[in-house]
Amino acid sequence: VKIAQISDLHFGSLNPVVAEALLRRLRADKPDLIVVSGDLTQSARESEFIAARAFLSQLPAPTLSFPGNHDLPGMDAARLFNPWGRYRRHIAADLNPEWRSQLVQIKALNSARRILPHWNWANGAVSRRQCADVAAAFSGRAAPWRIVALHHPLAPSREVHLPVTVFGRDALLAELRRQRVDLVLAGHQHHAKVEARESDGHVTLFVNAGTATSTRLRDQPNGFNLMHFTPTEARIELLRFDGGDFAVFEAFAHSKPSGS
Ligand SMILES: [Fe+2]
Ligand SMILES: [Fe+2]
Repeated sequence: VKIAQISDLHFGSLNPVVAEALLRRLRADKPDLIVVSGDLTQSARESEFIAARAFLSQLPAPTLSFPGNHDLPGMDAARLFNPWGRYRRHIAADLNPEWRSQLVQIKALNSARRILPHWNWANGAVSRRQCADVAAAFSGRAAPWRIVALHHPLAPSREVHLPVTVFGRDALLAELRRQRVDLVLAGHQHHAKVEARESDGHVTLFVNAGTATSTRLRDQPNGFNLMHFTPTEARIELLRFDGGDFAVFEAFAHSKPSGS
């Protein structure tokens, strides 16, 4: 199974040359699924969602997408009364979607909130209900590779000057340990990196993606992630835009005994 993760497309501040190169590259790679991990738009405008939808429709695989903080309208009535109306109308009705194959199972969570108990509403949160949904998703006949995906990173990079707070993070981390989740996919910081953490002999990889197509670069060029799964092996490639095409600049191999 081959899964691509593209993040932080930011229609509204998009580099069209990079977007074309991304389409070309994904058509060549032919993934089975493309995870779109939030911030599809810059300002949650109707026109931006329409452009994002047109782009998703050109992708060569089904998508699993969920919102980021930029997909919420700013300080207008829509933020209060119908925060997810535009996202739902143009992108997908389900804000916490799931995908499963024989080998890989993904549970996505919407971590963006219209209001937070923090001065910076760009931060994220996960609720108790969402933790319970993670438990429900992986109980019973879970696939060998268990993945949780959300926009805000639980293991943010300290190399970029964008601190991230995720309310409810500790409860979610405890649930990820209980469910022996293998990978956690995130975006938001526009910085790609992979970090492995072990607990009770189980390794969880925290895989963060850069911004695939936006001009809002922090200290990395545009990029996306490509993941290959066999029953016992995962290979994660971080690709970046080199001016003409996307190329692998870092790769991680991760194996686990079958049935763990
Ligand atoms: Fe973003
Ligand atoms: Fe974000």
